[in-house]
Amino acid sequence: MVTIAVTAEGPDEPRFAVSPETVKKLAALGAKVRVQSGAGLRSRFSDEALAAAGAEIASSAAAALAGADILLKVRRPAADELGQLKQGALAAAILDPYDRAGIEPLAATGVNLFSMEFMPRISRAQSMDVLSSQANLAGYKAVVDAASLFGQALPMMMTAAGTVPAAKVFVMGVGVAGLQAIATARRLGGVVTATDVRPATKEQVQSLGAKFVAVEDEEFKQAQTAAGYAKPMSAEYQAKQAELVANHLKTQDIVITTALIPGRPAPRLITSAMVANMKPGAVIIDLAAERGGNCEATVPGQTVEVGGVKIVGAVNLAASVPVNASSLYAKNLYAFLELFFDKKDKTFNINWDDEIVKGTLVARDGKIVHPSLAPQSA
Ligand code: NAI
Repeated sequence: MVTIAVTAEGPDEPRFAVSPETVKKLAALGAKVRVQSGAGLRSRFSDEALAAAGAEIASSAAAALAGADILLKVRRPAADELGQLKQGALAAAILDPYDRAGIEPLAATGVNLFSMEFMPRISRAQSMDVLSSQANLAGYKAVVDAASLFGQALPMMMTAAGTVPAAKVFVMGVGVAGLQAIATARRLGGVVTATDVRPATKEQVQSLGAKFVAVEDEEFKQAQTAAGYAKPMSAEYQAKQAELVANHLKTQDIVITTALIPGRPAPRLITSAMVANMKPGAVIIDLAAERGGNCEATVPGQTVEVGGVKIVGAVNLAASVPVNASSLYAKNLYAFLELFFDKKDKTFNINWDDEIVKGTLVARDGKIVHPSLAPQSA
């Protein structure tokens, strides 16, 4: 029988890698799930609920890990944890794999490491896509946080005492987070505009009832890669985009920025000069803070105020709705593991040739194997 260990996360990470729902499903596949006592509590998954779903509650991390075949985590596990697993075991987590120095000691343990953020964006893997499941929640929470920081109402209200104007919300970067930010801002009654460099987003923005604002030149028409991501834009395009954005920002109340390019620092879309021209009381939530920020004034993990404009360097926003974030993340992991269970024999066998395995496997048998982590591109 395959044993899956799930241990506590660090103090800054309230999310958890299994939920009562996925414990039940993993048990149905024939796995034994061993959870460290109390480790799910910050996602409101009690030992009782997990045990009722079929988990074995271990009194310590060491007791959960001892001789397990699989370790599931949200964040990168410690090398010491990996060392307690069975030889040839696997671990799956959000590993932050581009930090090669941090990954090397983990790879050296010989545990096969899977990085969930490398999940290929193919339709078969949609249910395993942690970037999507977490970005969606981050996009939602960004708007809720902005609404709370903005000292005014979002919807237009016509009252006997006069009219409250609708707030203007601008979403920069219309990927998964941006789309949810648009939808949430619309639900709250904001007047929403959005921008992106990928032409495919124009229709998506409009279908959510928002207005699309962008420099739509020849370069814009080519800005999407085959994988569906944005390309870095030329200096010339960026200058045109900056001019358009600068004017638009002057009238906006809430700005949510989410623009990212895989494997690169976040594009700088809002300069300090643009912030200086914004209305006092405006709020910017920068979801790209961890990758350097879309706004020049962003400080990751902090809220700063510049000329009356609040700028939030949002970090790990999905974790601020931990119950939902953990439930979805746990489902992503379940969908990934389910691929390798033989439902008849109740055995677990990795197919090393599967595109999903090749895409997410960072280290195998002690060596870093992922092509995008080869030393020359690290
Ligand atoms: P992301 O987090 O990498 O980037 C967010 C957004 O920023 C993207 O829309 C990107 O075009 C935009 N951006 C980059 N540079 C910009 C700039 N200079 N100005 C304005 N915007 C800029 O993207 P995310 O959210 O991960 O999604 C990317 C695409 O992948 C989307 O089309 C999404 O629908 C697709 N997708 C496909 C999945 C699948 O098939 N399994 C799963 C999830 C997403």
